[in-house]
Amino acid sequence: MTEYKNLLVQTEQGITVVTINRPKSLNALNSATLDEMKQLFDILAKDEATKIVIITGGGESAFVAGADIVEMQKLNVIESRNFSRLGQAVFSAIENLPQIVIAAVNGYALGGGCELAMACDIRIASSKAVFGQPEVSLGIIPGFGGTQRLAQLVGKGRAKEIICTTNMLKVEEAYRIGLVNAMVEPNELMETAKAMANKIISKAPIAVQLAKDAINRGFDMSLQAGLAYEADNFGICFATADQKEGMKAYLEKSKPVFTGK
Ligand code: HXC
Repeated sequence: MTEYKNLLVQTEQGITVVTINRPKSLNALNSATLDEMKQLFDILAKDEATKIVIITGGGESAFVAGADIVEMQKLNVIESRNFSRLGQAVFSAIENLPQIVIAAVNGYALGGGCELAMACDIRIASSKAVFGQPEVSLGIIPGFGGTQRLAQLVGKGRAKEIICTTNMLKVEEAYRIGLVNAMVEPNELMETAKAMANKIISKAPIAVQLAKDAINRGFDMSLQAGLAYEADNFGICFATADQKEGMKAYLEKSKPVFTGK
């Protein structure tokens, strides 16, 4: 696989672990890192060896502490809009990957880091994780999707409070409001993320992909349109060998062997 300067990428038994790796800057996202992420996720979308993706942060204290303030400080109006669009494109690529993406949040997930976690399908956080959107303290607003995805995840009222007060959320609070799916001790984080990954890998892959797609697309639609989309994806399942295998195995009281076909 391609070598990256700011990312570590390792695939083992179907799980690709992507580590954002600029620990001296608490993994802050500069445009070079975002470019590498775009390149990587375009490759992973077509990579048959990658059944699931886990994203985490390098070093001890951060998942991602935000977009790189050193780089942003110098941007003009057009450059800053392009920077926002670049991050949005990368995060949309993550959200729309055919594979499920789990964020293993090991520390600070602030600004663009919280936005990165929210673009993932599932968030598992260590008890050391801290979430927040500190942008308005810097005279900016979240620009990698935070104003949209935070409201989708926790509701408009809580999103406005988190963004406008810049209050940091400890993991218990993030869990309470539904921003994270699970919280675990730091030494159990990767193990828990991989266990969930393996559970998902054991299911019918095309069905998992179609379920993710229906949930994502449905969010942008009316209920009626979303239900119609769901029915179409449901129908597509019946073109797969795995649907036949899954139902046959259930009725025979045996364990299904899925082939992803
Ligand atoms: C650049 C960063 C950074 C960032 C940390 N660093 N966050 N550099 N951009 N977002 C750097 C620090 O400057 C420091 O560099 C080194 O990482 C270690 O950080 P410390 O501050 O010494 O660590 P600590 O005291 O433990 O504090 C951790 C922290 C703090 C609370 C996370 O670093 C912090 O508040 N960071 C900024 C968080 C933030 O505002 N994020 C949102 C950014 S705006 P040196 O060289 O001094 O060692 C954003 C917008 C997204 O994300 C949308 C864009 C379109």
